[in-house]
Amino acid sequence: MTPPTDSRRGFLGRAIALLAGGTALLAPAVWGSIAFLNPLRLKGRSGGFRRLASLDQLPEDGTPLRLTILDERTDAWTRYPIDAVGAVFVRRTGKDRVEALQVTCPHLGCSIVYQAAPGGGAFLCPCHQAHFDLNGKRIDLPSQSPRDMDALEVEIRNRNEVWVKYQTFASGTAKKIATS
Ligand code: FES
Repeated sequence: MTPPTDSRRGFLGRAIALLAGGTALLAPAVWGSIAFLNPLRLKGRSGGFRRLASLDQLPEDGTPLRLTILDERTDAWTRYPIDAVGAVFVRRTGKDRVEALQVTCPHLGCSIVYQAAPGGGAFLCPCHQAHFDLNGKRIDLPSQSPRDMDALEVEIRNRNEVWVKYQTFASGTAKKIATS
């Protein structure tokens, strides 16, 4: 058998170096794709718009409805394919206009309730008695709540579908800071 010539050794060396370099470049791309396609990552999309109701389901007099938000939820041990992760108040403010408010109180995160009353109701946080009008504005200032109720983006699609962008926000701060 004849020993490899210098040019063959050079070719083999370059091929091995190319293979090693290619593998090093490819590995992050492969792991990035796996991470991107991982179903658990889809949880991050819970901040997107979701169809919650149709226009004709909302009372025409502007009375708010409390609607539960369902999504995948995972705790330390268990993955729940569908579970309640939050709620929003949705109400009609005109023929084709709808407003949505996060039910979580901006003070310390308790659930705000709607209190019906003759001539128009209001929202109340039962934990420290913060009051809000139907638009989510604080009343009875100074309020325990550092800001008004958190309004959510609403879109009416296909004339009758009410889509709400569900988001959560940091509590205890005057600034509205999205956390999802
Ligand atoms: S948590 Fe709502 S007023 Fe304190």
